[in-house]
Amino acid sequence: EKGGYDHFMLKEIHEQTNAIVDTYRGRLLADKDIIKMGSVDNNITKFLNAKRIVVVACGTSWHAGLVGEYLFEDLARIPVEVEYASEFRYRNPVIHKDDIVIAISQSGETADTLAAIKLAKANGAFVFGICNVVGSSIARETDSGAYTHAGPEIGVASTKAFTTQITVLSLIALKLGYLKGELSKSDYHNYIQELSIIPSKVEKLLKFDAEIEKIAAIYKDAPNCLYLGRGYNFPVALEGALKLKEISYIHAEGYPAAEMKHGPIALIDESMPVVVIATRKGHYEKVVSNIQEIKSRKGKIIAIVTKGDTQVRDIADHVIEIPDTLEPFTPLLTTIPLQLLSYYIAVMRDCNVDQPRNLAKSVTVE
Ligand code: M6R
Repeated sequence: EKGGYDHFMLKEIHEQTNAIVDTYRGRLLADKDIIKMGSVDNNITKFLNAKRIVVVACGTSWHAGLVGEYLFEDLARIPVEVEYASEFRYRNPVIHKDDIVIAISQSGETADTLAAIKLAKANGAFVFGICNVVGSSIARETDSGAYTHAGPEIGVASTKAFTTQITVLSLIALKLGYLKGELSKSDYHNYIQELSIIPSKVEKLLKFDAEIEKIAAIYKDAPNCLYLGRGYNFPVALEGALKLKEISYIHAEGYPAAEMKHGPIALIDESMPVVVIATRKGHYEKVVSNIQEIKSRKGKIIAIVTKGDTQVRDIADHVIEIPDTLEPFTPLLTTIPLQLLSYYIAVMRDCNVDQPRNLAKSVTVE
């Protein structure tokens, strides 16, 4: 049942190549430069007229929603708010009739997300679901939606649900960006072509197991860990930290890299590992200076860089290279080594990787 892997989590990490392909199959028609999504096409006027998109979700799905914020704003110029479903539902939020509410949930059973959907519907918003489990409560409660097609996710730590949620969000953002005239035909073409080859790049990254295992062995006993990223990779930093804390019980925090100087830098000393996502296009020079600030305080740097990088390699303690890609798709790649890093650390600490203490796969109570 684990397909030869020691844990469901590792199996699911490795399934991401195919899961992304399954998610865009029949939707991303790369040879024709077409993105076809029935649920978006059938509601296209609503999508094109939306003044705002509000994303509601929890946990990892909320992190995918944050990546969605960068995608929708950058590619389609639609303002986005990303809300914790649990806060949104009790906050007396302002919801307009021409808002689109996107609810993201792997299980489709998360109580807070379900309640947020009901509230949005009662206020007249159009609610679109991005779920993995077919026929789940959220899939049924939403006005329309798109499944992620990741296949069953058994490990409590969400992995392939995250990357397939980002895939669906990318498809919608690209489609709307093009239809709204925000993306030129050639940019649209380039994004489509690049998205279609992302799975092969994910596949390459999955071969770095051994390299990441070595880094895990060095830091497995660290009491704390910081994760930093900017732009599209800020949510990836949050997700990397969540993954480490939930399965290895190491205290970890994710921050936008530039927030360092507003507090977290005080934590840096020789025993603090800092995972920094420093891909070439994402405010690279600024992240490099953050790395220098950490190094001068003796922090240990594990950097995720673009293939061929030399500048960060010179100063970081460890580097993991990701293949080059267009900026909006970097989260689909940078996430992979962070998932593997937390997996190996948890295994080395003898933790119950697939069923971490105090956690359930679907959180059906608030
Ligand atoms: O099923 P959902 O996507 O609605 O679940 C939301 C969170 O409970 C979930 O992502 C949780 O944070 C995971 N354990 C993270 O790995």
